[in-house]
Order: sequence, then structure tokens, then C-alpha cells
Amino acid sequence: MKKGLLFLAAFLLLLVSGLFGYVLFSTGPALLFPQTPLPDIQARPEPQIIERGRYLFHGPAHCSQCHSGNDRDRPQDINNVPIGGGLELPVIPLGTFYARNLSSDEETGVGGIGATHLARTLQTGVMADDSLSFFVSQSAAFLSDEDIVAVISYMRTLAPVRREVQRGSFSLIGRFLFSFGLLPLEPRQSPTPVHVTDTTTPSLDRGRYLAENVMLCTFCHTEFDKVALQMTGPSGGGSLPDPSHGDDSDMEFVAPNLTAHPTGITGRLDENQFVARMQAGREFTSSIMPWENFAATTQNDLRSVYRYLRSLPEVDNEVGATYCRGHL
Ligand code: HEC
Ligand code: HEC
Repeated sequence: MKKGLLFLAAFLLLLVSGLFGYVLFSTGPALLFPQTPLPDIQARPEPQIIERGRYLFHGPAHCSQCHSGNDRDRPQDINNVPIGGGLELPVIPLGTFYARNLSSDEETGVGGIGATHLARTLQTGVMADDSLSFFVSQSAAFLSDEDIVAVISYMRTLAPVRREVQRGSFSLIGRFLFSFGLLPLEPRQSPTPVHVTDTTTPSLDRGRYLAENVMLCTFCHTEFDKVALQMTGPSGGGSLPDPSHGDDSDMEFVAPNLTAHPTGITGRLDENQFVARMQAGREFTSSIMPWENFAATTQNDLRSVYRYLRSLPEVDNEVGATYCRGHL
């Protein structure tokens, strides 16, 4: 009987170390996708294109939230924040990643990376070194080709900041899950969204493009399965509780219901009150919502977002306090 148990334990140990050994040899700390084609996109010199890129980068597309290096500093002037990267983004237990230096420094930034490679990253998540970025593929804006051109043109004008940023990596568990197809991570395949121009009057179409693809309201404010990497609840109906990523890790956040139901934000606030709330900024230091970037978004765009959120099917979900002691 004892011998049998010992034998079983030894067998299991061998099996587990064999599996991990296989993972170590078959995948490196990065997931490589060298076959991903490069799009035909170039940076442009026109000042109005560069200006639109600047607006997107620091405003609705909130690139500077992660790439400014420290999202806890909460810069007063988000439009002039240095883009030297360095922010540590742990994804427990998949790995730890660091937002890269996006300034035009040739060695430590993206100055030496061609526009087509930068565009491929924004379309698919595959970076210049052919590795897949967890964050770009999962939680960065999915811009139209026109807006990708604008953002890259703007990035080209950023003064070089010399700052070496450490390379992130997937953990052994992350690589294990990936090798056995348990982590459905791959380059974004879908065509980039259709561009919707900013017009002088707010529109539902512009609101949809912003809320779904650029400002990612429905991405954060919907129940999400972190293993299957997909939405599990009604769109904009409120998220599941998530432990704070800040020093207050005993606390948790819930992104509230945004729909027009009386329990939802756009059911409770009229359009002017909504715009005022978005511009008032953050209440909690460690919330992951990019409040500073959204306060730098035009009134027109915020009104478009309001109209789109109100058009979503109403969800009856009172989330209660959005910041409270965690029960995880
Ligand atoms: C939620 C945080 C986050 C946001 C928002 C974000 N990024 Fe990133 N980005 C990262 C991280 C982290 C990396 C590093 C790689 C990784 O994920 O492992 C990265 C990598 C990149 C790279 C790859 C550079 C290289 O060396 O090839 C580019 C380009 C980039 N981001 C541009 C952008 C732009 C433009 C935006 C706005 C549209 C943006 N990012 C928004 C976190 C973010
Ligand atoms: C990266 C995730 C993320 C994104 C993107 C995001 N939110 Fe949030 N949001 C949260 C979290 C978490 C909270 C709760 C903590 C807080 O109030 O900051 C929240 C809270 C809110 C609140 C409640 C503020 C209050 O007064 O109680 C409003 C309004 C809101 N979000 C609207 C939006 C809209 C509109 C968008 C898109 C334009 C958006 N959010 C995008 C995560 C996000």
C-alpha cells in the first residue's frame, strides 16, 4: 500500500517536471509571432494630423496613462507628461510587463522602430521584436487606420527621453497555460474599426467608436472572465470586483453600471451632469480608470459617448460602493 503511494507520488512528480520542462524548452519568456504581416502605414508631416494624434494619445486613447511611467503620480498636465515608460504592470499569475519608452530616443525609445512596425503593434499587439504584448493586445485602444497614422505621426515628434526600460516576461505558469492552449492569447485578427470623424455635433456613431474602441468604457465596465479573456456580462452593465492594484491592496474596485437604467450612470445623470462628472476627475488615487486623460477629452466627444451609452440595452444592476474593503 505504502509502496503504491510512493510510486504514484514519484510518477506525478515526474509528470509535472516533465510538463514544465517541455514548457521551458518549447516557449521562451515571450510569445513570438514573426509571421504577422506589416501594414502599409507611414507617419505624416501635416500639423493637423499630428495635432489629432496628440489629442488621442493624451486624451481619449489614454496612451500616456501607462506610458508616462508612473500612473500614481497623477500629473496635473497630462498633455505634457514625459513618455519615458517604465510603469510596472503585474498580471498575476501570468507575468509582469513594463510599459515601454515611446519617446523618439533611438536606443531606449521607439526612435529606431519604423512606422510600419509601430502600426502593426497598434493593430495586432505584435511588437517590433515580434513578441506579443499582453497589454496592447488586451487593453490598449483599437484605433482606425486614420487614427493610427495620427498617433504614430505624433509619437515621431516626441523629444527623446533616455530611459532604459526593463523587458517584461510571461511567468512559468503563463507559459504553461499558453503552451497547452489554456490561455487564448494571440495577435488581434479583426480588421481595424471603421474611422468615425469628430464632427461639430455629438453623434451616436462617434460615441460607439470612442466607447468601444478608443476610451474602452465597455471593456472595463462589463463582467470579464480573466481566464477565457472574454466578456461574460451584458455590455456596460458593470464589472466584477477587482482588487486594487495600488498600495491599498486590501481594497477592491467595481466599475459601475453605465447604462440608462435607473441603477446606471447614464440613467442617473443627464448629459450635462455626465460631462461635468467626467471632467471633475478622479476620487480614488489607485483606480485604474484613466480619469486625467478623459478630463482632457473634448465636451463634444464626451457627449457622443453619453449618447451611445444611453443607447445600450438597459441593465438592472446596482453595484453599490465602487471602492470598498475586499472580500476576496
Ligand atoms: C494599459 C496600459 C497600456 C496602454 C493604455 C497602452 N499601452 Fe502601449 N504598452 C504597454 C505595455 C505594458 C507595453 C510593453 C509590452 C508588454 O505588454 O509586454 C506596451 C508596448 C507598446 C509598444 C511597443 C513598443 C516596441 O518596443 O515595439 C507601442 C508602440 C505602444 N505600446 C504604443 C501604445 C499606444 C500608441 C497607446 C495608445 C493608443 C498605448 N500603447 C496604450 C501598456 C499600455
Ligand atoms: C481601465 C478601466 C476603465 C476604463 C477604460 C473606464 N472606466 Fe470608468 N471606472 C473604472 C473603475 C474601476 C471605476 C470605479 C472607481 C472610480 O470611481 O474611479 C470607474 C468609475 C466610473 C464612474 C463613476 C464615478 C463616480 O462618480 O462614482 C463613471 C461615471 C465612469 N467610470 C465612466 C466611464 C466612462 C464613460 C468610460 C469611457 C469613456 C470609462 N468609465 C472607462 C474603470 C474604467
